[in-house]
Amino acid sequence: MSANPFLDPTLVHGDLYQGDGRLADRTHALHRAKISGSDAADTIADLLAARVPAGAAVLDIGCGRGTTTLRLAYRLRPRRLIAVDASTALLRTTRDRLGDAGPLGSVVCADFHHLPLPDSVVDAAVAAFCLYHSPTPELVVAEITRCLRPGGTAVLVTKSLDSYAELDHLVHAADLDPHATRRSSLYESFHSGNLHTIVATKLTVIDIQHEEHVFHFADATHLARYLITTPKYRITLTGGIPALAAALQQRLPAPPYATRSTVSYAVAVRP
Ligand SMILES: C[S@@+](CC[C@H](N)C(=O)[O-])C[C@H]1O[C@@H](n2cnc3c(N)ncnc32)[C@H](O)[C@@H]1O
Repeated sequence: MSANPFLDPTLVHGDLYQGDGRLADRTHALHRAKISGSDAADTIADLLAARVPAGAAVLDIGCGRGTTTLRLAYRLRPRRLIAVDASTALLRTTRDRLGDAGPLGSVVCADFHHLPLPDSVVDAAVAAFCLYHSPTPELVVAEITRCLRPGGTAVLVTKSLDSYAELDHLVHAADLDPHATRRSSLYESFHSGNLHTIVATKLTVIDIQHEEHVFHFADATHLARYLITTPKYRITLTGGIPALAAALQQRLPAPPYATRSTVSYAVAVRP
């Protein structure tokens, strides 16, 4: 078992993404807290729209609940859209959300280290917020490169190592996890700082963009809703969200509780 929960296969292919609820709750709590920073799915679609003609074949790996997939479907109007994920539950959600765009889309359950696609079949590929689940992200970049046609474009997206570090201090200050500030970043295998190097192992990087996102959790219940979904902390308190919210309210200064994350985008082409 890896010390980093985002690299622990039992957790990644189990509690974290086996069902749709935990990811949906985490995303919802974060979106509600966001006070600055663009919508990542919009940014990815913008980056590709400038480079990919209508009628292209597009691959979205680690598609999760399909938030980016859906945006790609409507913005790029691809001829073919293939969404890959290791979680059948999340692929079901993606397929349902694709709805009207469904006929052009297919969902495929696979490990992104071994994409079940022939060589050189897609014009564009996206890997958003998922390569930090691989201990060897350069192998996934190699797979993406194999599937791209020469000249095809990939957009790879991740977060900075220090994302949400302020929450480590809040969890520690609230006496909920004495080691909260000493745990390694969830994003340690693929992050803003090594994005360029890892992508450049196989692709030609043409642009890297970093954007800071700022979050204000309005009250203790809102913060508890987020904390309960993240595997970073070992919070032993029982009683779920109400008990966690009560502890945070008692032990921390008044809200809002602020944190930040840098979201980084690499745009790269297959030589
Ligand atoms: C945070 S979610 C991605 C969200 C999505 N890309 C988006 O933009 O909304 C991370 C996803 O990576 C998937 N994943 C993790 N390890 C994987 C692997 N080895 N192969 C395929 N998918 C994997 C998880 O199942 C999960 O759906």
